[in-house]
Order: sequence, then C-alpha cells, then structure tokens
Amino acid sequence: MTKQCELGWREATDLSGKVVVVTGVASGIGRATAIQFAGAGATVYGGDINEAGGNEVVSQIREAGGKAQFVPVDLTDHDSIDRFVDTILDKTGKAVDVIASVAGWERVGPFLENTPDFWDRVISINYLAPVRMIHRFLPAMIERGQGARIVTVASDAGRVGSMGETFYSGSKGAIIAFTKSLARETARYGITANCVAPGVTDTPLFHDGIQNPKLKEALINAVPMRRLAKSSEPANMILYFATPAADFITGQVISVNGGLTMHG
Ligand SMILES: NC(=O)c1ccc[n+]([C@@H]2O[C@H](COP(=O)([O-])OP(=O)(O)OC[C@H]3O[C@@H](n4cnc5c(N)ncnc54)[C@H](O)[C@@H]3O)[C@@H](O)[C@H]2O)c1
Repeated sequence: MTKQCELGWREATDLSGKVVVVTGVASGIGRATAIQFAGAGATVYGGDINEAGGNEVVSQIREAGGKAQFVPVDLTDHDSIDRFVDTILDKTGKAVDVIASVAGWERVGPFLENTPDFWDRVISINYLAPVRMIHRFLPAMIERGQGARIVTVASDAGRVGSMGETFYSGSKGAIIAFTKSLARETARYGITANCVAPGVTDTPLFHDGIQNPKLKEALINAVPMRRLAKSSEPANMILYFATPAADFITGQVISVNGGLTMHG
C-alpha cells in the first residue's frame, strides 16, 4: 500500500508547519488564502503592493494566534520581485514549501480600446511576475527536496475566453500553459504545480473591474448556482493543492465557479 493510502483524511490535509508564500494578500482571494493557510497551521509570508492592506491582514492573522509576515512587493517591478524573494529566502533559511501566486489585475473593456500600457500592466502582473517569482524560488525548493507545491491562479477567462477581457484572457491562458509545462519539469523533484481558475468571485477586482451593472448581473445569472463565489471558495482549492492529499495531482486546472464553465 502506498504512503498516500495509509494517510487518514486529517493527516492528508495537514498543513501545520508549512512555510507558504502568498501574493495578493491585501484583498479578495489572496487575503482569504493567507487567512486559511495560517488557520491550518502554516506560516505565511504575504506580499502585496498595498502595504496598509497587507499589514492589516497579517495583524488579523496574528491576533487569531496564527503566524504571518508581510513583505511588500510591486509585481510590475523586477527589482521589487527580486527583493521580495530574497527577503523571504533569507527569513526562512531557504525553506519555502508552498508558493500561492494569487495577485492579479484587470479592467474590463473592448479590445479595440485597450492601450499598450494596459497590456504591459496586465501581462506583467498576471504572467511575467509569477514566472519571475517562481523561477527565483524554485532552486531553493528543489534543493530542500521535500515535495514543494506551486499553485497559480488563472481565471475561467483563460480557459474559455471572456467578452471584454480579451487581453486578460490571454494572460490567464499563458499562466495555465506555463503551470502545466512547469509541472512536467518539476515532477522529477516531487514538486507539483497546479492552477485554480476562479469564476466570478465577490472581490474588489470583480466590483471595480466591471463598471457596467447590467454586465455584472448577466454574469451572475450565467452561473448555474446563481451567485458569486466567496473569496474563501477558490482559496479552499488553493489550500487543497498544497496538502499531502494532492500529492499525486499535478499540471491540473480546477475551476471554482458554481458551474459557470464545465470541463471534460
Ligand atoms: N474576482 C474575480 O471574479 C476573479 C475571477 C477570475 C480570476 N480572478 C483572479 O483571482 C486572483 C485574485 O483576484 P481578486 O479577485 O482577489 O482581486 P483583488 O483585487 O481583490 O486582489 C488582488 C490583490 O493583488 C494585489 N495587486 C495588484 N497589483 C499588484 C502589484 N502590481 N503588485 C503586488 N500586488 C498587486 C492587489 O493590491 C490586491 O490586494 C487574480 O489573479 C484574479 O485575476 C478573480
């Protein structure tokens, strides 16, 4: 019998003692992810450009008895990403178990009205930043040799396309393809890489990113379960991919979307 079969569900979902890096901790899904990892006994290093918001989440975690530290990062800035990684490697003695790359950015609008500056921002935050961050953390994760976990966050837009999110969909399709190929390369080190694709989720990105109330209503009506996801719902799947229960799952994309899209 394999080790996995011998584990009970409680042990198979145990995250206590894990060192976890989460980006986008100041808000929405990243915030929920950080809070849930800390609640499950992990030590969280949270990054965000919003320092006040990030520090607030860290204080909330600590007040509840959890372990967390905020490390500022601007994901549009290479030097800032490098400083973020170096700070965490230094503070943890290069012992990082999980990367949850959650931060993202978008504004909905017709492709023909996009500007090159908008494309640069979207591709930097949603694709190039996670790639750079993972590239910098990976050698230490391989050296540690303890079966690290990488979880990226895409979007259903990156799986099936989305009206008014043409370039954003491309950036999310890129992170999906990257995660799958990365999973093939890291499997030999026992490191898994998986991707969570949220549908419409009740966060500031959804509310600020879509100005048209009719479009919001139409999106919610298109969800078979007829509501937005709570931030904790995609966060639950991010945590699951980080647990021993998901040891044999790699290169997968799971949508958390109330049935908005269904994939074979
Ligand atoms: N909310 C949705 O409906 C939805 C749907 C599909 C996918 N997603 C994806 O889920 C992820 C989380 O989104 P959310 O809805 O929680 O959004 P959110 O806006 O609530 O949170 C995003 C976080 O990323 C941070 N961030 C943005 N730009 C940054 C930068 N340059 N450097 C560092 N941090 C930066 C923000 O400060 C914020 O704290 C994103 O990758 C997003 O694309 C969200």
